[in-house]
Amino acid sequence: MINYDSQNKIFYLNAKNTTYAIGLTDSGLVAHLYWGKRVNFVPKADPNRFGGHSYSAFDYGDYCSNTVPQEYPAFGNADFRIPAVRVSSKLGHHVKLQYKDYEIVDGKPKIPGLPATYVEESAEAQTLKLYLSDDVQQIEVVLYYTVFENFDAIARHTEIKNLGEAMELNGAMSACVDFYGLPESRLITLDGNWANERVVTDRKIVSGNQNVESRCGVSSAYHNPFMAVCDEKATETAGNVYGFSLVYSGDFTAGVELDSYRSARAYIGINPFEFTCRLETGDVFATPEAVLVYSAEGFGAMSRTYHDLYRTRLCRGKYRDTERFALINNWEATYFDFNEEKIVAIAEKAATIGVDTMVLDDGWFGKRLSDNAGLGDWVENPDRLPNGLKGLAEKVNACGMRFGLWFEPEMVNPDSDLHRAHPDWIIHTENRNRSLMRNQSTLDLSRKDVCDYIIDAVSSVLRKANIQYVKWDMNRYMTEVGSALLPAERAGEVKHRYMLGLYRVLETITTQFPDVLFESCASGGSRFDPGMLHYMPQTWTSDDSDAEERLKIQYGTSMVYPYSSMGAHVSACPNHQIGRTTSFEMRCNVALPGQFGFAPDLNRCTEKALEIAQEKIKQYRALGPVFHSGDCYRLKSPFETDWSVVQFVSKDQKTAVVCVNSAKATCNAPDEFVALRGLKHDATYCIDGTPFDSEYLMNTGIHLRNGRENQSFIMVLELV
Ligand code: DGJ
Repeated sequence: MINYDSQNKIFYLNAKNTTYAIGLTDSGLVAHLYWGKRVNFVPKADPNRFGGHSYSAFDYGDYCSNTVPQEYPAFGNADFRIPAVRVSSKLGHHVKLQYKDYEIVDGKPKIPGLPATYVEESAEAQTLKLYLSDDVQQIEVVLYYTVFENFDAIARHTEIKNLGEAMELNGAMSACVDFYGLPESRLITLDGNWANERVVTDRKIVSGNQNVESRCGVSSAYHNPFMAVCDEKATETAGNVYGFSLVYSGDFTAGVELDSYRSARAYIGINPFEFTCRLETGDVFATPEAVLVYSAEGFGAMSRTYHDLYRTRLCRGKYRDTERFALINNWEATYFDFNEEKIVAIAEKAATIGVDTMVLDDGWFGKRLSDNAGLGDWVENPDRLPNGLKGLAEKVNACGMRFGLWFEPEMVNPDSDLHRAHPDWIIHTENRNRSLMRNQSTLDLSRKDVCDYIIDAVSSVLRKANIQYVKWDMNRYMTEVGSALLPAERAGEVKHRYMLGLYRVLETITTQFPDVLFESCASGGSRFDPGMLHYMPQTWTSDDSDAEERLKIQYGTSMVYPYSSMGAHVSACPNHQIGRTTSFEMRCNVALPGQFGFAPDLNRCTEKALEIAQEKIKQYRALGPVFHSGDCYRLKSPFETDWSVVQFVSKDQKTAVVCVNSAKATCNAPDEFVALRGLKHDATYCIDGTPFDSEYLMNTGIHLRNGRENQSFIMVLELV
């Protein structure tokens, strides 16, 4: 997988069908030579090739670092572009990195304290470690590249070690790729807001810096920690696409700076905007991991690589490979207005149609009668739950269902016993207003004592009753960021320390309770990122559960994340977020490929709706393995057409499922054909008993009748 050509000083990193090449110059610069389709060899680093002119500063021998494509650029020499690493110390703020050494190891080392992709056998991957240093600034930088044998993916992260006196790290990217002489290209990002997450934004890369970033302490609904650089004409099925995804749940930046030589520096990492880290002598800072995926066949193939890698080598635990739960959650059925009797009634009805898990959402604890009070006090409210969680869980179990529970452990209401006892346990800055969001503050997880409290509080509830599923919610961004335990001038450390604290909490709790299925949530999908998926294999995709809206949200989410990671429920109707009325069947069909569940109180549904629900649960059980471990093909985009057509094909190509939904209709419009993908060649597939030639299906396709609104059906193809 990794070879070093010592004569030409080139490292070849060969993933499944991809080559990534790194060259060393005699002057110690680490140059980026190539990333793309597999090649046998590439030209070595050469001053004639990498430009420079009479006004260039040749800071690395014959090379001017301003025009050399690099692997990990620094600032303070001749390179004026955005740097990957910034420090400040008594020795100044300049960094000049020189290559020192390399090491190639089998497998993939862990990143201490941070989520990351992993291997199960060391033969699955190899890792290159490049050692660089700046002897003046007294730092050592280690660049890690893991190449996966079975995926077109390269995982990168960086370690920075302080060899001198105390210093500040002011920024450290996880990965940087200099595309040398980029042709006309586009940048794709996933952007949005609460209840409108991961809208695909597609823009031309123009001169200057274009980036997306989070500054709110959470990966956020505003932008996802992902970007793709692609050919000007790249489509779902064709063109070079280069994906960058960050395994991190806090502030990030992802962008491309195009210079006047059409060299484009792509970078991704922790956002340096409000970040510092004090490094004492000998301290090492590890960046989060960036996962780089190359596809020569458009966005679809890029997404399928992310899906497979994240599903099998990022997610962990008992539920990684198993079919999960079909649940009902009481939030939209009752909001805060519930008691044991109501929850049991919902469970009893749901059990009759085959729902297997009853999840009790917000409001079961402390004085949590509304969102004004109680967060932080994780003790049952006896008025609502006279028999406690244990008693309720037993009643739910008696219906033949699992019992699941909502928590929001990272947050506290000022009106709570926890806040009254520990007002300094929240993120705040002295002498500043403590802004509330949804009437709550963020607990300061940069503190060990606060993290230990959360571990204890959640664990003791989980030990109290037979709780088999947890929805781990988080409903605000961070403001006035500071910690009572850090001096104000070090407040820039708090957000990253928070993430390290959160990851320790999640690691501890999920390890202690391996049989519990955890789902993360953040006002819906405000923290739908690879970092959270490492601990919890599914995320509540959005608080907007309107079927038509969800088609877009799920489509955008699937650019990076597999359907197996998307919590998707049948919404109440008219929909609570936008008031739309959609057929029960369509609501089911839209939710079906995700992690399926129900929001409405089924006691209030019609007999017809219950019949459909029962049928859909059966279908979910039958087709779940195809949705959740098959290959996903996006055939028609709801962003670009009135249709959403998504196809799933089992890995053995024996079963394919096509999910078709339409929103609008035009009277008397011509019919359409949608060509399927990923079927076995020269084979026959049956649809409802009728045989079809796979080549016909992949060339002409399936027939869609235009002219009717809200069409929704699931087509199953079986190989004959
Ligand atoms: C936000 C979540 O996204 C909702 O599903 C629900 O759990 C509420 N929080 C409860 O407060």
